[in-house]
Amino acid sequence: MKILVTAGPTREAIDPVRYISNRSSGRMGYAVAQAALERGHEVVLVSGPVSIPAPAGARVVPVVSAADMKAAVDVHLAWSEALVMCAAVADWRPKRVSAVKIKKRGASPVLQLARTPDILAAASARKGDRIFVGFAAETGADFETEAARKRKKKRCDLVVGNDVTAPGAGFDVETNRVSFVTVDGVERLPLMSKLEVGRRIVDWIERQAALR
Ligand code: PMT
Repeated sequence: MKILVTAGPTREAIDPVRYISNRSSGRMGYAVAQAALERGHEVVLVSGPVSIPAPAGARVVPVVSAADMKAAVDVHLAWSEALVMCAAVADWRPKRVSAVKIKKRGASPVLQLARTPDILAAASARKGDRIFVGFAAETGADFETEAARKRKKKRCDLVVGNDVTAPGAGFDVETNRVSFVTVDGVERLPLMSKLEVGRRIVDWIERQAALR
């Protein structure tokens, strides 16, 4: 299969030296890409700025901002048979980007923020018969309910929910504890390596493709 994977954070510029971002290391998305490659799938990996090596055999498309990531997903969606949207896209960007480094003298600046594009929601308009896997990064006990809400809203076949405050789960660790949320309900997986989570996701995609 042709699998389009997004990974890592996006960075939204404040000025030429500062930005808004988040703690995503890219590990989870890179693990999905690695698992797909192990199975012989073709992978395009749209990646925000990370400091981990790309899995051998992936075609990496490096991006910085949410707008860049949306443009890359828009370009590669037509090629793909499945989209795994693991990136932690920044939800807001500074409304205005200063062309020069903002000086510290004088009053502290007040940043006005604007929403970034919702890449997955936008892609869902062109879903066709593609398999869509989203993630839901949540910080509370109701993470599966939120994942179910996002699954419907963003027209995903599967949403991988993670409570990113749980020990060993979420951002910048080697392991994750996730729940698979589908139209059929919730499957809770135990704590495992991100590579193993990636393999379970690829298993799920392959099973889903075989049913079509
Ligand atoms: O990179 P790691 O350090 O390994 O951490 C892994 C992870 C915590 C980043 C990963 O497991 C994860 O949860 N990724 C999704 C992060 C996220 O942005 O979740 P969300 O609930 O805010 O977004 C829901 C879905 O919409 C996601 O598939 C997201 O990629 C997508 N989205 C969100 C915002 C936006 N503007 N556009 C999007 O497409």
